[in-house]
Amino acid sequence: MLRDQLRQTIAEAAGVDITEVHLEHPNLETYGDYSTNVAIKKKLDAKAIAAKIPGATVAGPGFINITLTPENLLNLMSTASDLPNIGHGQTIIVEYSSPNIAKHFGIGHLRSTIIGQALYNLYEALGYKTIGDNHLGDWGTQFGKLLYMLEKYSVTEYDIDKLEELYIEFHKLAENDKSLENEARKWFKRLEDKDPIARELWNKCIQISMREFKRVYDLLNVQIDNAHGESFYEDKMPEVIKIAKGSIAVKSDGAWIIETGHDSPLMLLKSDGGTTYATRDLAAVLYRKNTFDPIKIIYEVGAEQTLYFAQLFTASKKMSLVSNDVELIHTKHGLYLASDGKKFSTRGGNTVKLDEVLEEAINRAKGIPEVGIGAIKYFDLLHGIQSNIVFDWDKILALQGNSGPYLQYTHARIMSVLAKNNSPLSFPSLKLREGVGGELNTEELSILRWIYKFPEVVEEAASRYSPNLLCNFIYELAQRYNTFYNKCSILSAQYSGEREFRLALTKSVGDVLKKGLNLLGISAPEKM
Ligand code: ARG
Repeated sequence: MLRDQLRQTIAEAAGVDITEVHLEHPNLETYGDYSTNVAIKKKLDAKAIAAKIPGATVAGPGFINITLTPENLLNLMSTASDLPNIGHGQTIIVEYSSPNIAKHFGIGHLRSTIIGQALYNLYEALGYKTIGDNHLGDWGTQFGKLLYMLEKYSVTEYDIDKLEELYIEFHKLAENDKSLENEARKWFKRLEDKDPIARELWNKCIQISMREFKRVYDLLNVQIDNAHGESFYEDKMPEVIKIAKGSIAVKSDGAWIIETGHDSPLMLLKSDGGTTYATRDLAAVLYRKNTFDPIKIIYEVGAEQTLYFAQLFTASKKMSLVSNDVELIHTKHGLYLASDGKKFSTRGGNTVKLDEVLEEAINRAKGIPEVGIGAIKYFDLLHGIQSNIVFDWDKILALQGNSGPYLQYTHARIMSVLAKNNSPLSFPSLKLREGVGGELNTEELSILRWIYKFPEVVEEAASRYSPNLLCNFIYELAQRYNTFYNKCSILSAQYSGEREFRLALTKSVGDVLKKGLNLLGISAPEKM
């Protein structure tokens, strides 16, 4: 990569090791394309170093700024959409989506699904072996409550609405009747003991939920490699319980807890011996370590579980379920808010039904699913993961501005330019433009001085868990391209070299936009 060659050149000129040379992009392009502070850091003579590097100037207290040559920029343009393999097949697990059985797929799980898929795509594209896992909430005492209600009221016909209703009803009844919690516990015990009636009811709840979830995933065009829900770890818990008891778990009021140094302890086993959400997560860490040997596990889950994941990660390391160098990451996404700043809801209800939101997005996008869904995804990803999002249909579907439809439209515009050309595309050298003096004009240069950063941005978006960096990058690229498009003729360019160059430029922008959108999980339509 040119960036590394440049670092090497600077290292040689400065007489330092290449690892000492860090490159950034100056804030203003007029300063140059790359900048390094190596002279300041190592107290060297910046002027003397710059004199040995083509295109280098010195600014301020000794920053060395480097302006890439047109030849460099042209070479970079033709390979801009190629991404480096930095993963070398190392494994990263991305756990995302993870809705709860017997509840509607909520808007919080939408965020997890969109962000998780984008992170998955980014790491995969950079050469990591990526494994997606949907940690479905399909186990736990809440199922005892549901099974109790289903049986008590002999409910045979039910959907998710009904299941949610029964769950709320249970809590109302339990306020006045303390014995109900016990009944629920017994039902959950029956489930754990593989009682056929309990298992059948539970299976039916799963089937009903999965049918709804599948509808959402189909609309979103998301497929997750594995769906090892919480129940998957049922038979894998005894092993971690043993490890915990033999190491850091302590008995407290009949329960087993793990002190992690955070605000409260992690509950390993309840006083009745029942397992918890945490027990299953510990088992999942061990299973993942043994099965996939990942270097990193990303938990794409909302910020409300921050304390819990801090506890889980500390406990996992203290129990040596994974070694210290395995990164356990909780991305902590923010909430969706309604325009009044309150938690987002539809039709005055408490929970947002996601399929209704998605259907509405498609309707508002004139019935074109890839536009409506792309708009929702882009709007989500444009926000930093940890910030809250104010849901705003106008911004989501805006045809101008930093929106999914604007980027898709720009891509489609590019495709229509390319479709009108029937001569073969080559990536011409500057020589082809000798007819116009070999000079690149302002609009062309502005694209060239931006597009080559794509691989760097993809790396940064992955390593900082920040797909928004990629959104902003492709938006800026689209804007620069549209300025060029409005000012310069492409197909009817005056000189044949110029036409050929502008078509190649157009093709490169199209490739990068498409790849950028696809990494975000958004399709890039040919026509719009
Ligand atoms: N089902 C959980 C919820 O909706 C999210 C699961 C998060 N992942 C985990 N490994 N605990 O709150």
